[in-house]
Amino acid sequence: MSNTQSNNIYPIFDRMMGREDKESLLRQRSVMVWFTGLSGSGKSTIAIALERELHQRGLLCRILDGDNIRSGINNNLGFSPEDRVENIRRIAEVSKLFIDTGVITIAAFISPNNDLREMASSIIGKENFLEIYVNTPIEECERRDVKGLYAKARRGEIKDFTGVSAPFEAPEHPALSLDTSVLSLEESVNKLLGLILPKVKV
Ligand code: PPS
Repeated sequence: MSNTQSNNIYPIFDRMMGREDKESLLRQRSVMVWFTGLSGSGKSTIAIALERELHQRGLLCRILDGDNIRSGINNNLGFSPEDRVENIRRIAEVSKLFIDTGVITIAAFISPNNDLREMASSIIGKENFLEIYVNTPIEECERRDVKGLYAKARRGEIKDFTGVSAPFEAPEHPALSLDTSVLSLEESVNKLLGLILPKVKV
């Protein structure tokens, strides 16, 4: 039984100040920008550049990123299917807190299958959720191999490595797809700004 189903738990969300109060204080609307894609596809690079552009326009953002979250709140989780579910569940719950605080929230996680992303969008709220597929081909991700992880995975030194020994399921209807082997960083960010700015400006 999960904690929320157990006895003696009384959430008080309805008595706390709400999202609209926070949004009007910040003069922005919050949205969840959820990047999905293979390791090395460019999720984090685009997320960081996007945050900078939004920040320069006076918009408050928060990035949640795989390696950072896995060094902190999720440092007890690995890459088994069960651990990936728990990883994304916690990230979605934390994201919801930011969304409810009026903050534009940018998540950069492999989140390798439709069920995981569906779970995240249900927790956060489908109406807030923009799924962005960084669909850089695996050949290009592997060619870059910034962290040397593909080489390790090919040598069998990392198990359950996404794209090599664990599956990646492409999103069916992403709000946007960005192939960083074709698009420059500036082009990717401009496409994102075109999508996001109308939703967050009051
Ligand atoms: S997931 O699938 O959403 O739970 O993964 P995520 O939390 O985004 O973590 C991905 C980063 O962890 C590193 N790493 C691995 N990735 C995939 N598979 C395995 N087995 C693995 N082991 C370590 C890797 O640096 C990923 O970072 P990114 O930024 O995606 O390259």
